[in-house]
Amino acid sequence: MKSNSTQDLPLDPETLPFHVAIIMDGNGRWAKKRLMNRVKGHEQGTQTVRSIVTAARELGIGMITLYAFSTENWARPKLEVKALMMLLKKFIISEREEFSKNQIRVNIIGQKHRLPLDVQKEVDITLALTKNNDKMVLNLALSYGSREEIANAVKQIAQKIESKELDSKDITQDLISDHLYTKTMPDPDLIIRTSGEYRLSNFMLWQAAYSEIYICDTLWPDFSKDEFIEILKNYQKRDRRFGKVSCSTSNDG
Ligand code: FPP
Repeated sequence: MKSNSTQDLPLDPETLPFHVAIIMDGNGRWAKKRLMNRVKGHEQGTQTVRSIVTAARELGIGMITLYAFSTENWARPKLEVKALMMLLKKFIISEREEFSKNQIRVNIIGQKHRLPLDVQKEVDITLALTKNNDKMVLNLALSYGSREEIANAVKQIAQKIESKELDSKDITQDLISDHLYTKTMPDPDLIIRTSGEYRLSNFMLWQAAYSEIYICDTLWPDFSKDEFIEILKNYQKRDRRFGKVSCSTSNDG
């Protein structure tokens, strides 16, 4: 019997998604299953971040965006927020040499100014150190919320209209995109969410208009390079039509 499995097929470098975004979910449940504190789940999740960033670079992905801390996550217990900030700071310090070695440019999307000052300082050092790297972009979504991002864009555009720098007739989809945190970036081709939840949770609502979405049941700390490759293969089998008809069914020649 013919199997539908993509396991034996190689990954086609020609049709890799350029921009992969990941909603890393399930750290808390991973820890709970092991009767551990939620922070242990975030610690293990940080190891997964390391391995998936390395894998993405090795596979030739152009841009990877990781939803690491949302605007809503500030409402978590103080100790959990503190632990997440500490893990982020440790990660950004310990990995910066590796990023340089592997030509990875780090970028932040979100309210960087809301991060603790010591974290901001280390983030800035990493941004400066990696700014000329050109093999892959690692976007960390920190204190990121898509509705806040859109509201912020609308505010900036309104101010430009007030000051006559812009006219309301200038408002186009491109203009709005140019005022988002992601202004210079292509939209994500593929959004992966781990831990089996079927929602976007205020992540890239504007940018996800035509993203392919893949939800897997694996909890983020258990997510592996092999599973990542299988998801990329699944993406490569999809027919992205962007609201049009497939090339193979079009009669226009
Ligand atoms: C969601 O799991 C995960 C987060 C809110 C934080 C993600 C953070 C990391 C993976 C580690 C730190 C990040 C970096 C970039 C070093 P959850 O806690 O909501 O899990 P649950 O739904 O099972 O409770």
